[in-house]
Amino acid sequence: MNVQIGIFDSGHGGLEVLQYLASRHPTFHFNYIADLEFMPYGTKSLELITSRCENIIQKLIDEGCEAIIIACNTATAVAIDSMRDKFDLPIIGIEPYLNYINKAPQENIKEGSVGALVTPITFKSNRFKNLKELRDPHNLVKVETIAELAPLVEELIKNKNLEIVKTSLHALLADVAKHRWKEVILGCTHYPLIAEFIEEVLEAACISPTASVAAQLEKRLGLSTECMVENKSIDSSFRYLNTQDPKWLDKKMSDFLFWRYP
Ligand code: DGL
Repeated sequence: MNVQIGIFDSGHGGLEVLQYLASRHPTFHFNYIADLEFMPYGTKSLELITSRCENIIQKLIDEGCEAIIIACNTATAVAIDSMRDKFDLPIIGIEPYLNYINKAPQENIKEGSVGALVTPITFKSNRFKNLKELRDPHNLVKVETIAELAPLVEELIKNKNLEIVKTSLHALLADVAKHRWKEVILGCTHYPLIAEFIEEVLEAACISPTASVAAQLEKRLGLSTECMVENKSIDSSFRYLNTQDPKWLDKKMSDFLFWRYP
């Protein structure tokens, strides 16, 4: 199947989803927008995030995209409903918390064993609050917000210094580590990119939303998911635009996630 997919995030968080999908669907064409001009979304106003989503989705449609992935938990929480009202094509969002709760009903969750990390704006959004009240009324899954975590991942991509990131992670996650969670839901797409380092600091298993997002897209496109296997070692190619210098460029995954391609 030859289909144009548009993916965007405030920065490079959506690359995890892109890589997963590209390795399962080698014939798909991916167009990725990193909204670095307005990164981080996690502390911005609802109006700004909504208008950025509208602007970027229109740009991706103008490039011929037939389905859009809002590869950003914050933008999904704030704007997915209005974007689905506005645009007439499949729009897939990211809701790791919802995926987890759907798979692990309340009676299976032991209080204090699972936590979630999200951005401050996701936490404050009505969509997230309503979801939490509805699906986890006894507040079994604790939620922590860390505004600096997504910018730290961007710093890693820009400065390529893994040691600084590991040291900063210890400081940023020191309070969260005291909860001694066994599992941690990664409620921002930047976090799976450094899941292995988060696991080390928290001594907890990370739960990433990537496979659920891919399954949603595959369902919307009418594809069977069973025969497609992820191949992590493929250095996928895609079209890329960064809003700080808006030109479409041909890029590879290793241009950004250097620590995964030694
Ligand atoms: N990667 C985004 C998310 O999933 C946004 C992070 C940010 O820009 O603050 O929430």
